[in-house]
Amino acid sequence: MQTLKNKFKTLLFKLSPRLAISWGIEFPRKSANRQFLENAIFKYLDTWLNTASAQCLFIGTDKRSWHYRSRFQAKFFTIDNDPGKAIYGDLRNHTIGSATELTLQYERDQFDVIIANGLIGFGVNERDQCEALFAGLEAILKPNGVLVLGHNNGPSHIDFKLEEVKNYHLLEEFVPYANELDQPRYVFGDHIFVFLRRADRPQ
Ligand SMILES: C[S@@+](CC[C@H](N)C(=O)[O-])C[C@H]1O[C@@H](n2cnc3c(N)ncnc32)[C@H](O)[C@@H]1O
Repeated sequence: MQTLKNKFKTLLFKLSPRLAISWGIEFPRKSANRQFLENAIFKYLDTWLNTASAQCLFIGTDKRSWHYRSRFQAKFFTIDNDPGKAIYGDLRNHTIGSATELTLQYERDQFDVIIANGLIGFGVNERDQCEALFAGLEAILKPNGVLVLGHNNGPSHIDFKLEEVKNYHLLEEFVPYANELDQPRYVFGDHIFVFLRRADRPQ
């Protein structure tokens, strides 16, 4: 029965994503890393985003994540460079633009939380693109803000290590120490989540 339901939902997203969204349907069959993001990580982010005055940026929009826009009380912003993905973005605060030019779209120190999942290795694949991405992320993240980076580093995605990207070091990894999150990074095959904050934040 569940399999049949999931087949129907998957088909609906193929035929009419707009209808699937208007019916409030979540894309089924979530991978282990997607479940970890939606459960453990979002639970941790609740402590940051459970107020309407907080601001969150979610980079890259997709059928798998369209429902995140109403997950938090915070003001939610989305950005994707593919106009066809705008349907999955926030209703009021979606931008069609590149994650490699974030400072053109957002203010310095604007965001309490930024989630960049499935971007590196899925469009931002070159080292110089990553340099531009991390420079922008550091600029628009609040000094005490949190960046959740979910990226693929298998050879079929990127052919360098993120640690080799100079601007990656504008940020530093940290352990959240909340909701059983006691590591700075969590690995699911070649998909990795890393908790980052600004290296120059006030102590
Ligand atoms: C694998 S999907 C991940 C979507 C979403 N972040 C999630 O977790 O469900 C990758 C998305 O990144 C977008 N993307 C790729 N390069 C981009 C760029 N330079 N700027 C903004 N979005 C980009 C693609 O258009 C695609 O929608």
